[in-house]
Amino acid sequence: MKIFLDTANLDEIRQGTSLGVLDGVTTNPSLVAKEKRPFREHVLEICRIFEERGIHAAISAEVVSTDTEGMLREGRELASWHKSIVVKCPTTPDGIRACTILTREGIRVNMTLVFSASQALLVAKAGAYFVSPFVGRLDDISADGLQLVREIVEIYRNYNFPTEVLAASLRGPLHVAEAARIGAHIGTMPFKVFEQLFKHPLTDRGLEAFLKDWEKARATLGDILAPAKAAR
Ligand code: E4P
Repeated sequence: MKIFLDTANLDEIRQGTSLGVLDGVTTNPSLVAKEKRPFREHVLEICRIFEERGIHAAISAEVVSTDTEGMLREGRELASWHKSIVVKCPTTPDGIRACTILTREGIRVNMTLVFSASQALLVAKAGAYFVSPFVGRLDDISADGLQLVREIVEIYRNYNFPTEVLAASLRGPLHVAEAARIGAHIGTMPFKVFEQLFKHPLTDRGLEAFLKDWEKARATLGDILAPAKAAR
């Protein structure tokens, strides 16, 4: 499963890419607004961070028009900025229409704010590159977000739709692991959740014990980096 960061924060993206396990970024208007910088400049900076590390990333940038014509104008503009940009459109009738047209023009589209299997079916038929079901926001209203991901994966497999399932609005490591078990192609998560993926108390405790034992026997063991003594 590909791992995306759901953020527009450059420090978080830099830290994330340094680990070598990130495949992209999803932004949305709320995330971008928090950064308080010109949008174009900011999105291009995100693209450059991945480029510098030689990662072929997918960077989602969202339109803010709500009518098809406006989405087409914004989507074409966003896609022209950088080859890594995937245009994000909302899953409304206008958004679906824009997705069909942009896809025919060879522009990759991420259909966002998907909350039902029927929406996901339409998104695939419109040729979307990614479908983004929002897991956490469904859980927030006492629905089962991961069940939606399961249904979409099943439907897409039934008909060999090439649209990739991007499990979004993931709120913790269990969401991420379960999305991977279900077969989502991508999981996008806030930096805080990404950090949690690495953590396990037994890893910390185990390492601490290894190092203590090593320290106790250090005089005999020597130093890993010390030059080897010539054999007699
Ligand atoms: C996905 O592309 C969205 O930006 C995101 O996952 C929304 O998640 P939230 O529910 O944490 O805002």
